[in-house]
Amino acid sequence: MVTHRAEHEGADSAEPALAEDDHLGVVGVVEDRPAGRALGEGALDVGRALAGDGVDDLPQRLLRRLSYRLRVDRGDIGRARHRDRQQGAPGVHGANPGATQGCLVEGKPERLLGGVRSIDADDDHATTVPAPGCGVQNARAVIDLRSDTVTRPTAGMREAIAAAAVGDEQYREDPTVNELQERAAALLGQERALFLPTATMANQIALRLHTRPGDVLVAEELSHVLIYEFGGPAVHAGLITVGVRGQRGRLTAAQLEAVVGRSSSDVDQRAAVLSVENTHNSAGGTVWPLDELDAVIAVAHAHGLGVHLDGARLVNAAVAQGVAVAELGSRCDTVTLCLSKGLGCPLGAILAGPDELMERAWREKHLFGGAMRQAGIVAAAGLYALDHHVDRLADDHARARRLAGAWHAAGVPVDLEQVQTNFVQIDVAPLGLGRREALDRLRAAGVGVSATVHETVIRAVTHLDIGDDDVERAIELVPKALGAGDRAGG
Ligand SMILES: Cc1ncc(COP(=O)(O)O)c(C=O)c1O
Repeated sequence: MVTHRAEHEGADSAEPALAEDDHLGVVGVVEDRPAGRALGEGALDVGRALAGDGVDDLPQRLLRRLSYRLRVDRGDIGRARHRDRQQGAPGVHGANPGATQGCLVEGKPERLLGGVRSIDADDDHATTVPAPGCGVQNARAVIDLRSDTVTRPTAGMREAIAAAAVGDEQYREDPTVNELQERAAALLGQERALFLPTATMANQIALRLHTRPGDVLVAEELSHVLIYEFGGPAVHAGLITVGVRGQRGRLTAAQLEAVVGRSSSDVDQRAAVLSVENTHNSAGGTVWPLDELDAVIAVAHAHGLGVHLDGARLVNAAVAQGVAVAELGSRCDTVTLCLSKGLGCPLGAILAGPDELMERAWREKHLFGGAMRQAGIVAAAGLYALDHHVDRLADDHARARRLAGAWHAAGVPVDLEQVQTNFVQIDVAPLGLGRREALDRLRAAGVGVSATVHETVIRAVTHLDIGDDDVERAIELVPKALGAGDRAGG
């Protein structure tokens, strides 16, 4: 439910509901606690409105601590004006300007986008700090394109979570988990699915299902499972890893043949599992063409390797290719799907595969400490996402293309062919910038992007909490911040 606070100062009156179609742009909240002390009662002008989505109580809570009135508009983060300055009233902070700290929260009607910053008394500097009591944690930028993992559950998802029927998952009695597992198995074209806390755990369990200690895992060299899972294949499964240099995250059938031919033998190291990643994170969200996927799977199977699909973003791949997710999932022996990325859940992942393997996976899940109790609370988010957040991934992809095209036109080095789903990678080297400097400049401009494994490459990722407005603003801000216009002009 969307509510707003009456705008006059000190108002304690009822909070009339706003019509859903009211244009609700921004929520501004400034918390002021010099020396950790609340300064007294105050009021907040919530700009145009206040976001709902589980933050209905936010202004109530914060208002108790507010000491001045603030008017904000979209983009005002870091430029708050204290009431004393704005309106000439006696300044409660005047005596102690450096200690003034505040936070400002930007939101949308259906969800809070985040943006919690400390604000210096001179109003001109904003740095990010975790802000206790704000209800939003440590979001770093107004337009947060760092990852599709930063999404917050929507109001609808939170309702589904609140209404979830639950039971003890370890007894296999949680009806919502059971339903999600059935739905996910069908979605992925597999016999059975298991609900897990993370995609990392799903990948690591899968590797154990396909191998014995001392076996070889083959994967593209920049696969998540090789470079971002903290040596999990060695630690959890005792595997030797062979990374194959791929093109856009894909190794070829010939490359696989060469590796397997070299290492596959009953008396030597046995290549036992191939892991393919679709979409491929480090390659920039790229998608496997079906014929190439089939070719490597055929080689793997011909040599007796199990094929695991790290499909953390498999639904993005399916949407991009216009095929059913099951068409991709059923080609492989086991499949990981992440619920907390483009699908917008707070957490959760799926591992799917044949019955017999999934029964073993159930044991592994316990071994990893991943067996839960009333996990239906989060599984409900997964069911909601399957109903509401699948088709909309096409919007994320369109927004990524829009960003990429406009940035490219403005002189930002973007490889347009690489933009196949919701990632846009930017190589800042041609701009004469290092990765750190580029990230800092963009953050200062209010755009959050993140580093990649490539030394001079940063990435922007579109997601559920990024709308067309954000995209248009990022189109303006990013070329300027990176000096791309200067380069194009000069
Ligand atoms: C391709 C891929 N696989 C697995 C994971 C791990 O996901 P989680 O954070 O749920 O463990 C990620 C996370 O970014 C990923 O990109």
